[in-house]
Amino acid sequence: MGRAVKRVVYNEQDIAGKVRELGEQITTTYPDGELLVLGLLKGSFIFLSDLVRQINRPLQVDFLVAASYGDNTFSSGSVRLLYDPETTLEGKHILLVEDIVDTGRTLNRLMDLLEARNPRSLEICALLHKHIAKELKYPAKFVGFDAPNEFLVGYGLDHAENFRHIPYIASLQ
Ligand code: IMP
Ligand code: MG
Repeated sequence: MGRAVKRVVYNEQDIAGKVRELGEQITTTYPDGELLVLGLLKGSFIFLSDLVRQINRPLQVDFLVAASYGDNTFSSGSVRLLYDPETTLEGKHILLVEDIVDTGRTLNRLMDLLEARNPRSLEICALLHKHIAKELKYPAKFVGFDAPNEFLVGYGLDHAENFRHIPYIASLQ
């Protein structure tokens, strides 16, 4: 089963309240146009499913599965999409949904790639942000919690693929 959980960092109530707030912010930010909510798999699957139910305007949902070629390069060419959205991004508001921003490398690469498809707008919504990176090329417009610099699991986040199903967010022993 892997390691034990050390402490609950955000409980179910904390998370539900925050997701409701984010949903309201997103609803008011996009008064018009087509909105495509793009979940980055696998980590965002629970967050995204709760979040879209708190957004009170028409939207579409799709997912991205990304694989990086290695950590020693920062170029946008180093990210490969294992699953690419079926829908066209051009002319739409794209909201990329991520579980947690750590160094921001994953997002930098992906955002370059998505930007090249000429969306009407392109923003990031992250449930958690560790604020490790000094300078992010694409800062997240919507952030749930400023997370502690600990390894977190639950509510979609994993450690070696375990713990994703836990309904709260905890730090590991
Ligand atoms: P970044 O590219 O360094 O920002 O890493 C982001 C990705 O690393 C996230 O999408 C997560 O999959 C993973 N990650 C970073 N920190 C944690 C953590 O504390 N718990 C679980 N996964 C994490
Ligand atoms: Mg992960």
